[in-house]
Amino acid sequence: MDSIVVTGNGPLNGEIPIAGAKNACLALMPATLLSEEPLILTNAPRLSDIATMTVLLQSLGADAASLQNDKVLALSSHDLTSTRADYDIVRKMRASNLVLGPLLARAGHAEVSLPGGCAIGARPMDIHIDGLEKLGAVIDLKDGYLHAKAPGGLKGAVIDLAFPSVGATENLMMAATLAKGSTVISNAAREPEIVDLARCLNAMGAQIEGAGTDRIEIQGVDRLGGATHRVVTDRIELGTYMLAPVIAGGDVECLGGTLDLVASFVDKLAEAGVSVEETGRGLRVRHDGGRVRAVDVTTEVFPGFPTDLQAQMMALLTTAQGVSTLHETIFENRFMHAPELVRMGAEIEVQGGTARVTGVERLKGAPVMATDLRASVSLILAGLAAEGETVVSRVYHLDRGYEHVVRKLSGVGAKIERVKGT
Ligand code: UD1
Repeated sequence: MDSIVVTGNGPLNGEIPIAGAKNACLALMPATLLSEEPLILTNAPRLSDIATMTVLLQSLGADAASLQNDKVLALSSHDLTSTRADYDIVRKMRASNLVLGPLLARAGHAEVSLPGGCAIGARPMDIHIDGLEKLGAVIDLKDGYLHAKAPGGLKGAVIDLAFPSVGATENLMMAATLAKGSTVISNAAREPEIVDLARCLNAMGAQIEGAGTDRIEIQGVDRLGGATHRVVTDRIELGTYMLAPVIAGGDVECLGGTLDLVASFVDKLAEAGVSVEETGRGLRVRHDGGRVRAVDVTTEVFPGFPTDLQAQMMALLTTAQGVSTLHETIFENRFMHAPELVRMGAEIEVQGGTARVTGVERLKGAPVMATDLRASVSLILAGLAAEGETVVSRVYHLDRGYEHVVRKLSGVGAKIERVKGT
């Protein structure tokens, strides 16, 4: 297995291009299942999760081609040959469950494996199931698979989500595009990835209003056509690389970034003493490399502070002046990076969903292990300013969500390399 070796070596300067959003792309790709006509996605990120979704769609009968060095995905689902999302694929990636709504809407039935346990918590699917049942689906759990049927077709309904789940909002929005009549999703998730999916579905002929607010209205249509859609910028990759010049010092412009994608994160940086400038080409972050002020962070649904930036923020706060607290409210068990950061000299106490971080002068490089996607990149960030060498193993987690990490960070002057494992 490959590892990444990073050596703290001072300020970072230059530009980092930010890719299209993994989480948006993973919801946009299954939208192909709703239509017989082609869906072209541009600005797609080059990640193993995207490859996994491609394999899943192909297993259902979709044609999928990667063009222009994998930045463009050409998808077509003229004929579906299967409605079964196999455990072998779903267990690798929870977002596989996003085929459930589209398959049910297009084919009238679907068999989708439950994702099973996940490293960052239980992650059930009850909200997806409740919503689809409101649309008229009958869903049974058998042999670890959800068997969903909509014999008379889906029918529009009023759905009040128990929690604004991102995946459930996406699944229900896709299913409702082809339902008879109108659907209202209240307490809907408001993440930019939801807005991006609604824009794409509307380009395909859907009638969706209110995406980005907590009330989404969908007027069902008989069929959807094709579309070409540009995937929105990845706000999590953006926030991650914005932290690099804060941790190591320097002046970095993250190309493609806009403030609206990361407003709550930028507010926390301001509280910590870091200012961010919107340049028209992206977001520019300058910092002298001195210790930031301690801050308290609580993860929340959008527009609150994203759980997917919690680990990276913790990496920064390990060397802040004072004591910071991080409250994780979205996922249980999402502090697995904490013991790894402690191996690098950080002072962190975790109790339930709260981590108390006492800033130290400087971290020290160490061999550490990536435990999940965001945890792995937090260790790389920590390594950028640590004394000596940090070796991050199990970087396959990183390949799920960060394209060309080594190229992007070495492009601004970081000392980082990928070492092939056996
Ligand atoms: C998406 C993102 C993930 C991000 C998360 C929260 C994708 C592919 N992934 O995941 O990176 O961390 O949003 O911003 O977009 N829940 C239930 N029942 C359900 C559904 C969810 O209890 O039916 C719970 C989950 O266990 C979790 C919380 O709701 O505790 C948030 O989950 P959700 O918003 O659904 O996240 P995902 O869509 O899985």
